[in-house]
Amino acid sequence: MTSDATAFDASTPLARELADLSQRRRQLATREYPLPSSPRVLTVANQKGGVGKTTTTVNLAAALARNGARVLVIDLDPQGNASTALGVEHRGEQQSVYDVLIRDEPMVDVVQQSPESENLFCLPATIHLAGAEIELVPMVAREQRLRGALDRYLAAMDEAGTPFHYVLIDCPPSLGLLTINAFVAAREVLIPIQCEYYALEGLSQLLNNIGLIERHLNPTLAVSTILLTMYDGRTRLAFQVAEDVRAHFPAETLRAVIPRSVRISEAPSYGQTVISFDPSSPGSVSYLEAAAEIADRGAPRGN
Ligand SMILES: Nc1ncnc2c1ncn2[C@@H]1O[C@H](COP(=O)(O)OP(=O)(O)OP(=O)(O)O)[C@@H](O)[C@H]1O
Ligand SMILES: [Mg+2]
Repeated sequence: MTSDATAFDASTPLARELADLSQRRRQLATREYPLPSSPRVLTVANQKGGVGKTTTTVNLAAALARNGARVLVIDLDPQGNASTALGVEHRGEQQSVYDVLIRDEPMVDVVQQSPESENLFCLPATIHLAGAEIELVPMVAREQRLRGALDRYLAAMDEAGTPFHYVLIDCPPSLGLLTINAFVAAREVLIPIQCEYYALEGLSQLLNNIGLIERHLNPTLAVSTILLTMYDGRTRLAFQVAEDVRAHFPAETLRAVIPRSVRISEAPSYGQTVISFDPSSPGSVSYLEAAAEIADRGAPRGN
């Protein structure tokens, strides 16, 4: 039997899905991923837990790296999930983003290459970062610590002839000083929204906070991208949530939607992203499509 989906009876939903997937894969093969002229720094944030922030950060980063961009992931969550997914060492004694924020350690000494790709790098998080939320409070310029370190690092990499194209910052599910540092370091915010009933709850609080940061700490910050995640095409609810989000944020919401997929959730346990773990799976194809759209759109405000 041939594995070509078009050879199946096209009247069944599974056959249609498979045919659609192979068509999307063919389209991706010729798709361009234009590189930005200066590094785009995106913070992936949503104070709701478990909506797909980390999954989105590492898979978009891997998708962009696979298509020629040099990408840095900053793991700003003490859980260290992004570091795990990128196969990067982050045991307690390892130097980490904590040392950069609290001890002024230069990023160049802490950033590690991910085994996933020679274009993909990670500033890892260890459990020490949990204390940083408190330790930052009395520090001078406590909201700007990440920004300062990142600006110095990006300038040094540019000078060395190895410039970065994208920096993706994975935030913890809270709006504390770590997340504020991420908002101050970034120009763009990417909000993953889980396609479920409570999806929009808390979003106005997040947008208010981003507005506050924009007014007081980082006038160039803007929500550039919204990505619908964990979409279950069998439920009417997921469809309605997606429609709702698109109605509210027509310009920001990506056309690509990330399906709920077991392969996506399995990949981190192998220290991999779904892009390398199962490149032709629906989850991987969807993240590659989302990354292509992000690359196409460029930065807001003509960056
Ligand atoms: N598209 C998907 N399909 C199936 N499972 C997914 C998908 N996206 C994420 N998951 C799983 O859902 C869980 C939460 O995802 P993830 O860790 O990315 O969310 P998060 O927003 O970073 O969570 P936290 O707020 O704890 O940092 C994980 O177990 C992840 O593997
Ligand atoms: Mg996370």
